[in-house]
Amino acid sequence: DDPRLRHIKTTIGVVPNFPKPGIMFQDITTLLLDPKAFKDTIDLFVERYKSKNISVVAGIEARGFIFGPPIALAIGAKFVPLRKPRKLPGQVISEEYELEYGRDCLEMHVGAVKPGEHALVVDDLVATGGTLCAAMNLLERAGAEVVECACVIELPDLKGRERLKGKPLYILVEAH
Ligand code: PRP
Ligand code: MG
Repeated sequence: DDPRLRHIKTTIGVVPNFPKPGIMFQDITTLLLDPKAFKDTIDLFVERYKSKNISVVAGIEARGFIFGPPIALAIGAKFVPLRKPRKLPGQVISEEYELEYGRDCLEMHVGAVKPGEHALVVDDLVATGGTLCAAMNLLERAGAEVVECACVIELPDLKGRERLKGKPLYILVEAH
């Protein structure tokens, strides 16, 4: 196993009882404070995706906006933000998804992704997988093929992987 992965794992903070009692919050802001860990994180994704013919990196607001753009720049793909509701000024398509309490929604600009494009979906973390599912649905509705979803951390106990309709999910570290 790559020593870069072991180091990255040590930089991710775990904050008990945030944002509510019983939740062990995985905090990637401490990874960002370590320039080597941040660079290695981006490099590991770039090594994996640079020769995969990806034309669009779709990043999920908010934390997918930290990791998606440097990957897009390095592999020569465009970056498309998938935003929370009522943030994008143009015509959008929307996908609702379940949260632990209530629902949320992601939106994408019509025309940002063309039919037949090969897409990579980037976020920081997969928990229940609902957010990644909504993101993939947006890209597929636009006619793109989702090559893979890439996240820094997975919470394996929540079985988010099972919701991804067999789409490949690549993660750097598992949280326990
Ligand atoms: C968090 C995290 C993922 C999502 C994962 O985002 O950044 O996007 O939850 O959860 P899921 O797999 O159960 O869908 P959140 O919407 O809390 O906020 P942020 O990224 O805007 O900080
Ligand atoms: Mg998020």
